[in-house]
Amino acid sequence: MRRKALWSAMMIAALLAYGMTRPGFVPWPRHVMLTWTGAPATTQTITWHTGRYTTESRVEYTESGQAPAVTLSGTAKQVETDGGVITVHSVEVTELKPATHYRYRVGDGLFWSPYHNFTTAPAEARPFKFLLFGDSQGDSYGLWQETVHTAYARNRDAVFMLNIGDLVDIGLSYRQWTQWFQAGRDIVDTIPVVAVMGNHETYTTKWEIAQPLLYTAFFQFPGNGPEGLKGKVYSFDYGDAHFSILDSQVQEEEAWIPQMLTLQKDWLEKDLAGTDKRWKLVFIHRPVYHNRASEGDQDLRETFTPLFDRYQVDAVFAGHDHVYARSYPLAGGSWSDEQGTGPVYFTLGRSGIRTFARTQPKAWNAAFYNPLDQPDYLTIEVSDQKVLVQVFKLNGELIDRWSKTAY
Ligand SMILES: [Fe+2]
Repeated sequence: MRRKALWSAMMIAALLAYGMTRPGFVPWPRHVMLTWTGAPATTQTITWHTGRYTTESRVEYTESGQAPAVTLSGTAKQVETDGGVITVHSVEVTELKPATHYRYRVGDGLFWSPYHNFTTAPAEARPFKFLLFGDSQGDSYGLWQETVHTAYARNRDAVFMLNIGDLVDIGLSYRQWTQWFQAGRDIVDTIPVVAVMGNHETYTTKWEIAQPLLYTAFFQFPGNGPEGLKGKVYSFDYGDAHFSILDSQVQEEEAWIPQMLTLQKDWLEKDLAGTDKRWKLVFIHRPVYHNRASEGDQDLRETFTPLFDRYQVDAVFAGHDHVYARSYPLAGGSWSDEQGTGPVYFTLGRSGIRTFARTQPKAWNAAFYNPLDQPDYLTIEVSDQKVLVQVFKLNGELIDRWSKTAY
């Protein structure tokens, strides 16, 4: 009898342990991440995941070491994944003080995350730095973890991090997203993530194309984009810079979003015309000026470059080709030298394991480096006088440096 009881207890414990490892059953908060849906100086959006049975979403925050903690409730949304139904929680904390350090934790009132920290942006424009990462996709995320942690360890003053798309290889694989979030732990819960959607965010585990339902459920961004593309296409201001984020996935998404380039063109025109920021920076997954052997996405070039030229965009950043490339200033599709006029087009390289051997420097490239040996990352420093872009290998070696000074 004793053996039978012991056996039953072991079975129950094993079942519980198994249940806890299934995403649908996990009661404690996981994948805590900061993004912005509102102004960086006074708001902070926080998301996290739990199992399906947790429906309460609470953030407890305090101005570090000072004021008593405030608890806010947010929204909980059930999301169907290939690993079962989970709950994605989201809270937008508002009315924060600018340039202020906050301590926070998230949970349902019973199961809480560890404490994390964030700092709001200054009210007035001051110089700032942020980190940029090329495609982190792959079937493992250890190298992405090394890249993001190394980059942040060397740049503790970075105020946010930007991922240019293809964050994961299979956008509908919850296992890969779990790996991506775990790799970014202690960073994505400390500085906000700004993401650009890539084509791989639309892929299923059978390599079919589907709506990027996990990406759109996990990443909360400003809702100021065009109808049908909100959360994928958006803009925001930080310091002296205006950031415009576009969606280049016409091949994958046009079945669901007809005329998605026209929608974005109309939106971008108003967006760029409406900003008085000194610097205009655009981010798009597929490069407008490509680096692959074949012709690139001509439709993207025809749609967007006239607007980039007309509204004097300073730089356009892309991913997808897994190489680092910087163009000469390009106006109207032509270029002369580094001192020419027009936007400069960057391709960021790769931050994960995936490399592309068959890419070639193009005639419009002023700098080109294929990071076959190790991943790379970028830092961008922005002030009212200057934008400085620096590109580093994972080992810290400088690959390229570019700056533009205000006239
Ligand atoms: Fe891509």
